[in-house]
Amino acid sequence: MKIKFKLNGELKTAEIVSYMTLLEVLRDTFGLTGTKCGCGNGECGACTVIMNGHPVRSCLILGVEADGSEIFTIESVSANGLSDLQKAFLEEGAVQCGFCTPGFIMAGEALFKRTQNPTDEEIKIALGGHLCRCTGYDAIFKAFKKVKVKKTL
Ligand code: FES
Ligand code: FES
Repeated sequence: MKIKFKLNGELKTAEIVSYMTLLEVLRDTFGLTGTKCGCGNGECGACTVIMNGHPVRSCLILGVEADGSEIFTIESVSANGLSDLQKAFLEEGAVQCGFCTPGFIMAGEALFKRTQNPTDEEIKIALGGHLCRCTGYDAIFKAFKKVKVKKTL
């Protein structure tokens, strides 16, 4: 099947088989391996990308559903240097093995696009369902709060 969509700001087309997930299309067809496959069944958040403005789990979406959509992956975030959130993750020690990090960052980028001044509750909801087996979640939460303070100064 042929799909046509906007990927990281550029119009793309691809021939894919109907059962490929969006995660497989991004990684295997387009070589965008920054998006990770942690569980493959919607439980870990590592595969999160932004689709039509919303964070989604790309392992749960079929590639054919991307037809006509606009998708941003982690590769788009640092195209012009690290984002505020990526810098805050480094400063707060919120990255260890880094496997979960692209998913958290994409959830955060979507959140801060929606609101520069999220409440603690909104941050927690954005982090919900993202699993990290290394850092615990305090450092990640602090990184989000740091960006909020910077954006609202
Ligand atoms: S790989 Fe998609 S949620 Fe875990
Ligand atoms: S930093 Fe290793 S899983 Fe989160």
